[in-house]
Amino acid sequence: MGAEEAYFISKSSKYVEIFNHLPNGRRVMPIRRRTISTATFMLHSAYKVLIVIAMGQSPQSSITSNSKYKDWSKNQLVSEIELLRKRKKYGLVWEDKPEAVVELCKENLPVLTEDRDKEITTNEDEPINILIEGDNFHALSVLNYTHKGKIDVIYIDPPYNTGARDWKYNNNYVDINDGYRHSKWLSMMSNRLALVKKLLKRDGVLICTIDDNELASITSLLRDMGAKSLGRAAICIKPEGRRQSSYLMEAHEYALFVSWGKPKMRGLNVDFGLDFPEQDDVSTFRWEGLMRRDAGREDRGSDYWYPFYVGPEGELSVEPSKNYTEIMPINTKGIERVWLWDKKRASENLSQLQAVRRKEKITIYYKRREQGRIKPTTFWHGSRYNANAYGTRIVEALVPHNGFDYPKSIYSVLDCIDLFTPENGIVLDYFAGSGTTGHAVLLLNKQDKGHRQFILCTNNENNIAKDVCYPRIKAVIKGNKYYKDITDIPSNLKYFKTDFIQGEPTDKNKKKLVDNSTEMLCLKEDCFEEVAQGKSYKMFKNGKEKYLGIIFDDAGIGAFIKEVKKLNKCIVVYVFSLDESAREEEFEGVNELVELKPIPEGVLNIYKRIFKL
Ligand SMILES: C[S@@+](CC[C@H](N)C(=O)[O-])C[C@H]1O[C@@H](n2cnc3c(N)ncnc32)[C@H](O)[C@@H]1O
Repeated sequence: MGAEEAYFISKSSKYVEIFNHLPNGRRVMPIRRRTISTATFMLHSAYKVLIVIAMGQSPQSSITSNSKYKDWSKNQLVSEIELLRKRKKYGLVWEDKPEAVVELCKENLPVLTEDRDKEITTNEDEPINILIEGDNFHALSVLNYTHKGKIDVIYIDPPYNTGARDWKYNNNYVDINDGYRHSKWLSMMSNRLALVKKLLKRDGVLICTIDDNELASITSLLRDMGAKSLGRAAICIKPEGRRQSSYLMEAHEYALFVSWGKPKMRGLNVDFGLDFPEQDDVSTFRWEGLMRRDAGREDRGSDYWYPFYVGPEGELSVEPSKNYTEIMPINTKGIERVWLWDKKRASENLSQLQAVRRKEKITIYYKRREQGRIKPTTFWHGSRYNANAYGTRIVEALVPHNGFDYPKSIYSVLDCIDLFTPENGIVLDYFAGSGTTGHAVLLLNKQDKGHRQFILCTNNENNIAKDVCYPRIKAVIKGNKYYKDITDIPSNLKYFKTDFIQGEPTDKNKKKLVDNSTEMLCLKEDCFEEVAQGKSYKMFKNGKEKYLGIIFDDAGIGAFIKEVKKLNKCIVVYVFSLDESAREEEFEGVNELVELKPIPEGVLNIYKRIFKL
């Protein structure tokens, strides 16, 4: 059995934090934090640590017993250090284990093939959702051709790497006895995160659930990749705790929210344990301070900076009055802030405000009502997050005898995506399992009349894609008698399987390339309904009157132009061409209607390899 450790090198390189993955695999914990002054850094044990790290060995054992470096001359050590200084100075270091699917995707063109028998269409006004069966690295590679920069929110619930033989690396289960299981997990996660970063919109959000096993690693990995943390929620998914735990019984897991941009948060319609003890004839409410603690005039503008006037009996006004005291939004430290409401809103809603005098200080409060979206706290509790009640039981009712152990509560996923997904946004989940994310997207649409779209990918381990995820989504769309309130949501689905096209110029590969790249371009443009076909071209449309044309060789341009004239609609056009991509001059007469787009580079390279004689 091999031994592994992952290391986090600090920004200043002054300490090395070592996450030791103990053989029983239950914990990732820092066992040594070695603070090394800059002066001693070069010449003392630190370089041994760095050398050992770079050699992929365990510093723990090596610092004390590594004989290899004991006999090295100072010059040898100095040149080794110079070499090592060029290497990574900040961030997570682990032993990258090559992954077969990554190599395959480099050598061949990863594509998707539709399984048309599984298509579901029950509401043509709604977007087409996608379910992809296969390895997610493969699926994400294809999505890089079709959905670059288009995804609003990615929600993932990866294997937690508990050692429970519940995920595979290079076709082998990774279990508790695998000495490299943490490195394999990090390699698997980082290969995929590198791809998804490009799929997200600039202000898109990635949500990753995780438990304590890999919390430290994934947090460091995401930070290493430049993702900014938006916060981390601890979600109580099993209030009674896990009986299998030897000591404290785990009751919660985490949802990490990160972004490479500056996303807007929509807030949630969920009671996070806030008490609304008061009641008036409108609703229950609680009194909260009207002064913003986190913003000043520079953030909100001067409309929110104005005085209140408070009378001797607590009377409130926004106009000056005799014997009234002027109150500005200035905090106890003397810092100028602003009010939550502008002056107009305050003057029209004085009955919703209250001035409270304590000693010399007067504070203005407003009635915060229970309704409305609120900023969630970092602690999510309540029965809606219970994975058994709102995960396992729902999946069991929708897909009886499914045998899947770890579905999330639909509401924990729903709340995560609700926080950041606009009403027409696209949500991707590439560890979809039983399809909770797809279900949550449809349910959220039902609740707020949104038109969000989902893309799910899961492998078919134990037939999860075919026999659990697909039938579950079908039941959600078509309805289930036990769960009427959260199913029966008319919608559409297309089912794809991952596939490859090899580079050899055979007729079979040529045909496959033409068929599969057509499917991929349809996916890219969200246009699937075929409306015209010629010898060298095809035309598609979607419900929103968007048109797509694909021309398979230059010779087909003439016939295609005639078809566009007949159609007389704007159309996005892709042309497969051996010399550089087709030029606008070639579409004379229909230039106004045609928007030429380049074939994705990876597809074009394989096309050239296969079609060039
Ligand atoms: C923890 S489960 C996700 C459960 C899901 N959130 C739900 O509520 O049903 C992780 C899923 O990812 C799938 N999976 C693991 N590795 C994968 C890979 N490389 N590609 C695609 N799916 C994978 C597993 O089959 C498993 O179903």
